Amino acid sequence: MEIKEDKLKEVISHAKEYGFVFPSSEIYDGLAATYDYGQLGSELKNNIKAYWWKSMVQMNDNIVGIDSAIFMHPTIWKASGHVDAFNDPLIDNKDSKKRYRADVLLEDHIEKIRQKIDKEVEKGLKRFGDDFNETEFRSTNPNVLRNKEKINEIEDRMRDTLGNNDLEGLYNLIVDLEIVCPVSGSRNWTEVRQFNLMFSTELGSVAGDASTIYLRPETAQGIFVNFLNVQKSGRMKIPFGIAQIGKAFRNEIVARQFIFRMREFEQMEMQFFVRPGEEMKWYEYWKEARIKWHKALGLGDTNYRFHDHIKLAHYANAAADIEFNFPMGFKELEGIHSRTDFDLKQHEQFSGKKLQYFDPELNQNYVPYVVETSVGLDRMFLSILSASHKNETLEDGSERSVLSLPPALAPYKVAVMPLTKKDGLPEKAEEVLNLLKFDYNCQYDEKDSPGKRYRRQDAIGTPYCVMIDHQTMEDNTVTIRDRDTMLQDRVAISDLYRIIDEKVNMRTLLVG
Ligand code: GAP
Repeated sequence: MEIKEDKLKEVISHAKEYGFVFPSSEIYDGLAATYDYGQLGSELKNNIKAYWWKSMVQMNDNIVGIDSAIFMHPTIWKASGHVDAFNDPLIDNKDSKKRYRADVLLEDHIEKIRQKIDKEVEKGLKRFGDDFNETEFRSTNPNVLRNKEKINEIEDRMRDTLGNNDLEGLYNLIVDLEIVCPVSGSRNWTEVRQFNLMFSTELGSVAGDASTIYLRPETAQGIFVNFLNVQKSGRMKIPFGIAQIGKAFRNEIVARQFIFRMREFEQMEMQFFVRPGEEMKWYEYWKEARIKWHKALGLGDTNYRFHDHIKLAHYANAAADIEFNFPMGFKELEGIHSRTDFDLKQHEQFSGKKLQYFDPELNQNYVPYVVETSVGLDRMFLSILSASHKNETLEDGSERSVLSLPPALAPYKVAVMPLTKKDGLPEKAEEVLNLLKFDYNCQYDEKDSPGKRYRRQDAIGTPYCVMIDHQTMEDNTVTIRDRDTMLQDRVAISDLYRIIDEKVNMRTLLVG
């Protein structure tokens, strides 16, 4: 646990040192849980968005993208249920005065039991070596079974209490499990209360003329209210999807763990409109498609797992998270929700406008069902940064800090370097840069020794360094150094574009 906390600290400090993420308003001592993306962070973020947009919108001929306003008519949030039901249960510890989400305290408790199971499995593996049958062990070992039983009991009680808004029951569960405050170590809890997560503000400049509006807590509603606009203007046929990337705002009770949980964050959401009755088929389809999309990044397949929701949101009839193994443990990265026809029906009722689709094959009008995929851009960013960051000790005993980012997402794809600042090498480097810079973000770097320059590029995740030396002036060859293997090859300048393109083009993530 300690090692993992150190890992998060390392990632945060690396992100700041190299211009990926800064604490917001830092010269005014910062603003809690708010962060700014720096010069490299915004490049990485844009590349993640491009990967999502390309695979979701541009490679699916039945999905289109929109960009709706953050401010929306306040009745939208009444219709969507957010005004009445977008609450989290909060609980305070009277000794530390720290505030927690009651459901998160319980989930953390379950995670600890899961870790006990994993430890038991590790012990089994050590004891039995090659003969170890993990599946059998997990279904027969008494300690594993006892802990699984505990988890099932807790989850059943969570389902009951959260599902029925039974705040007293939730409090009793925390007390029965003897959960202590991580800060004070005490069990001196307040009762559990509901807390609405929406930020509100006033629209209109004249006093008395103002009306309360909300900062959107999800981008999805901008898609729902444009469902017919897009369907009609784009002549879309069901099944079809509408995608959007944008900011969302939630007044989180506890916003912490760096960019994992913020009050202002970005979502990449897609609503897939389907025939009523076909939603479970599409729900399974999108679960598989989305986990495949994540795994294609090469951060390690075992870092991802599904987790079915214990409490379904007010709009869903099935929901699962894709969890990632963050430095803080497995946590939600993306949600896939079967939202039924809840949202469109609510908007029909509150707006008085029909939001229906005429299905020519069935010769019938209906309100479509919706399967949603919703991934947090900032959480994607953290998953990629934390899984890519490594401190390595090299054979010669020296240290290097490297970000082995998926090459297609790296802020710079290539660093072009003249060996020295004279003998025409910088001019030649400029020529090489011109061959690449129209397609790929490149950095020109002529300061310091080559070793220092390589280390700088390793630390920001640049997949390739191209060195222009005196031999280049004679035979038009350069050396190209690979970030991960640190091996250098001498290649013809005429082959450079092809070699780089093969590794860093977004295509590498999108095919297969
Ligand atoms: N439209 C459905 C929806 O908003 P959600 O599970 O509440 O579902 C979707 O949020 C995703 O948004 C999450 O999986 C997570 O990646 C991201 N997210 C939610 N709250 C966040 C926060 N406070 N900070 C950063 N990302 C957040």
